[in-house]
This record gives sequence, structure tokens and C-alpha cells, in this order.
Amino acid sequence: MYRRIAIITGSSSGIGKAFLELIANDNGGYFNNSFDEIWAVARRGDVLNEISSALGTDKIIPVVADLSCDSGIKTIEDKLKAENPIVGLLINSAGMGIKGLVMDKPAKALDDTVNLNCNALSRMIRITVPYMKNEGERPRIINIASSAGFLPQPNFACYAASKSYVISFSRAMSYELKPLGIDVTAVCPGPVATDFQRRATEGKETDFTDWRKNFVADPVKLAGKTLKASRKGKRIFVYPFSQKLLHLASKIIPTSWILCFSGNLK
Ligand SMILES: NC(=O)c1ccc[n+]([C@@H]2O[C@H](COP(=O)([O-])OP(=O)(O)OC[C@H]3O[C@@H](n4cnc5c(N)ncnc54)[C@H](OP(=O)(O)O)[C@@H]3O)[C@@H](O)[C@H]2O)c1
Repeated sequence: MYRRIAIITGSSSGIGKAFLELIANDNGGYFNNSFDEIWAVARRGDVLNEISSALGTDKIIPVVADLSCDSGIKTIEDKLKAENPIVGLLINSAGMGIKGLVMDKPAKALDDTVNLNCNALSRMIRITVPYMKNEGERPRIINIASSAGFLPQPNFACYAASKSYVISFSRAMSYELKPLGIDVTAVCPGPVATDFQRRATEGKETDFTDWRKNFVADPVKLAGKTLKASRKGKRIFVYPFSQKLLHLASKIIPTSWILCFSGNLK
């Protein structure tokens, strides 16, 4: 008999962890407790084990993998081949950003960002879709993009460009996978209270300190609202309202004006 599973990348921290918590205990009843297992993917196995024990459910299966390299993707691919489950949900939340001027950053930091945010996300979809079956409950893919993907961002250029890729790729995949009955949602939050900013600034800032501190969202609220948006079949979910305004502005105001304005804000 097939087991029905969810896979959540980046589940050791922040937004991915918030999804893991909601789905493991079926808080909000989004999936009627229908997953036999939740594969929680990240590099830090000790943290995944701690989260799993704290949640008190044996449904969580920690999967240690560095998704920025081929071997990490192969770990998931081999596990899927060996266990042949039905995948009902894939959430691609693993991601990273590096703040600063591109010319000041080591090439590896740029490579890692593109490998994780773009290549791993695409490859996770590619290896997972063959295991998605539309048997009453539609399979879903949720890709965590960012409102940073609406516009180029000097000083955060590689990250913003990688998130433009996620938005564009998700939009195209939602059409390619429609005949298979699979829904794809790209999520575009603004700043969220997670470990992201500390990592992106290499420990220099633990929280958002500039004008964005007024718009910081809670990861659990974001995760809950995203699951609702995915169930409604939304292709793009922008959250919260401040980012919807930015989305609109990015469509109607010339990019050069917004760049000039955001440069002044910084
Ligand atoms: N926080 C924000 O302001 C914000 C805003 C918009 C979008 N986002 C996006 O939201 C997603 C989640 O970020 P977050 O805010 O939750 O940040 P976070 O707290 O830093 O979490 C990042 C997650 O990705 C995992 N990860 C990092 N590198 C990895 C690798 N090479 N292989 C496998 N897993 C890796 C981390 O786990 P390990 O370190 O254990 O591997 C962690 O679980 C990202 O895609 C980010 O771009 C964040």
C-alpha cells in the first residue's frame, strides 16, 4: 500500500519550520491529517530531530541533505525511488540570500544562492512530480519566492534575481502541470521574522533594521495563509498587503524610478 507524504525543504528554521508545525499537527485542518509521513529536509539533522521530538509526532522523517549540490538532490531522489510514496505536497522553502555588492562577494556565495534558490527548487519539482497522483485530493507545490523578485535590487542583486526566477518558473510550471491536476503556487512575502536576515548579513543584523522593520510578517501566519491560498489554486500569493502595493507599483511605475526611490530609502 502506498504511503501519502509531504516534503518540506528548509524545515529546520523560519518559514519551512512554520509549515512543518502546521502540517504535522494538522493545525487549521488544511489536509485532514492525511499525510502518513512528512519528510523534513535541511542540512542540520540535529535541529530537525529536536523539532520532531518537540512536535511529538512520529510522522516527521528528518532528511539531511545539502540541496545546493547534486548529492543532496540525489539523496531525496534515491529515497523516493526506494520508498515509492505518493507525494501530496511539496513545499520548497529552503533558500538563502547574501547582502552586499556583487563585486565584494566571493564567487561561491553567488553560486550557492543560484544553486539553492533556483536549481534545487527546479530539480526538487522535477524529481517529485512523477510521484504526485491526483486521487481526489489535488497534489500541490508551494514555492517560496519573495517580493524581492518583483524588481532588481542593487546590494541584494543575486537574491532578487533568483527570486524573479522562482516567480517566473512557478508561473510556467502551473501551466505545464495543470493537465496532471497539480496546483503550483509561488509565494511572495516581504520581510518575515526568521533567521534569514542574520544569515544574509553574515551575522551583522539579526533583524530588519531599515524601513522594512515596519512590514515584518509572522512566519506562522504566512504559512497558514499560504496553505489557504494554495487550496484555492492561486498561482501567485503576495503577502501581506504592503507587498501587494509593491507588486502593483512594480507593474505600473518605471523600474528606474522605483530603484531610485528605494535607493534613497536605504
Ligand atoms: N525571512 C524573510 O524575510 C523572507 C522574505 C521573503 C522570502 N523568504 C524566503 O523564504 C524561504 C525560507 O527562508 P526563511 O526566512 O525561513 O530563512 P531561514 O530561517 O534562514 O531558513 C532557511 C532554511 O533553508 C535551509 N537551507 C539553507 N541552505 C540550505 C542548503 N544548502 N540545503 C538545504 N537546506 C538549506 C535552512 O536549513 P539548514 O541551515 O539546516 O540547512 C533553513 O531551514 C527562503 O527561500 C527565503 O528566500 C524569506
